[in-house]
Amino acid sequence: MQDAVNVDDFRRIARRRLPRPVFDTLEGGAGDEYSLRGNRSAFDHIEFRPRPLADVSKRDLSTSVFGEKHALPIMLAPTGAGRLAHSSAELAVARAAARADAVYMQSTVAAFPPEQVAEASTGKLWFQLYLPRARDETADLLRRIESAGYRALSVTIDAPVFGNRERDARSRLLSRAPWHPQMLAHGIARPAWALDFVRGNFGPRRPGGKQRLTLGQTRSTIMNSSYSVTWEDLDHVRSVWKGPLMVKGLMRGDECARLADAGVDGVVVSNHGGRQLDGVPATVDVLPEVVDAAAGRLAVFLDGGVRRGNDVVKALCLGASGVFVGRPYLYGLAVGGEDGVYRVIELLRAELDRAMALLGAATVADLDRTLVSGARIPPTLSPSKG
Ligand SMILES: Cc1cc2nc3c(=O)[nH]c(=O)nc-3n(C[C@H](O)[C@H](O)[C@H](O)COP(=O)(O)O)c2cc1C
Repeated sequence: MQDAVNVDDFRRIARRRLPRPVFDTLEGGAGDEYSLRGNRSAFDHIEFRPRPLADVSKRDLSTSVFGEKHALPIMLAPTGAGRLAHSSAELAVARAAARADAVYMQSTVAAFPPEQVAEASTGKLWFQLYLPRARDETADLLRRIESAGYRALSVTIDAPVFGNRERDARSRLLSRAPWHPQMLAHGIARPAWALDFVRGNFGPRRPGGKQRLTLGQTRSTIMNSSYSVTWEDLDHVRSVWKGPLMVKGLMRGDECARLADAGVDGVVVSNHGGRQLDGVPATVDVLPEVVDAAAGRLAVFLDGGVRRGNDVVKALCLGASGVFVGRPYLYGLAVGGEDGVYRVIELLRAELDRAMALLGAATVADLDRTLVSGARIPPTLSPSKG
């Protein structure tokens, strides 16, 4: 792990360490993976235009979101499959995020229940919500989340059904039992991973709590054909949840005014890491449209394809209030548990700091659209940050 100097190195090590179907579950996208690739390659179409002669001798990476100061504009996105990478899963991720003073948004379908993760962490936790199918359970769930100490809530709106993940369909990882001969063969070929997986399922690190959902259940209980999040659902959530409320999975600007009117405080421009509707544009290409439409009434976050501190800088220049990463910390988790996640955040932090210095920006507030160029960036120069 010490040899890894960037996120891609972590990816390569994770690929060697994990059984192929497990790596594919974390790595893969939907359909032809057009949107998965696009998220990444779109960053290559944005270039920096450094501002010379700025005093960057002291840099400050902190940022303010929903009235709270954060040490970093880099946040950890919700992922429901962490336990495939490491038995400590969300416990390790939350601890690493706390050490790095980064926000961690926990998934509804995490292995460990929200209370257990909150107990393990001294950091800032946000919660990602898939609405329970029995909508009358929503208020109870939100009260649990609030009393566990989660400070902000994000409702995922891009997953009415499960995306067409063909890598998973091929490997049948999610439907095969661990004792299936092919799964056993994978385990024998990756004994360190297999031992950790067994320990996580049967040993002391086994998650407790009665409301836990397993990965296999995700398909049937949450993202099924009867799961939709509607405006009425949002109104209900807003009436129960008093803290900052976001929606995650917005890919167009024209809904922003209505979301703000509905009392939503922020949006995450996201295509679920290319795992849901294949064929949607790259998130960073949609970001300026959403930032302009939000017109300062909503905080706008981005995720998808961020693998470098430089990508974070580009998104911030285009008006993002913060940037989430998903797979990068999962690679860290697979490679080194809590320490691996921490190291990934620190690598991104160092790259962010260096890029800001070279660009001529001493603070996050100094980052604006004049510092980037690219054919896909609209010419508007809005004050941006929400
Ligand atoms: C393995 C995996 C599991 C995910 N699980 C969830 C989830 O439970 N809820 C959710 O809203 N998004 C989920 N996502 C999407 C992430 O929150 C995020 O949008 C995406 O990973 C960002 O793209 P990146 O991986 O390129 O950084 C998941 C992504 C991955 C890779």
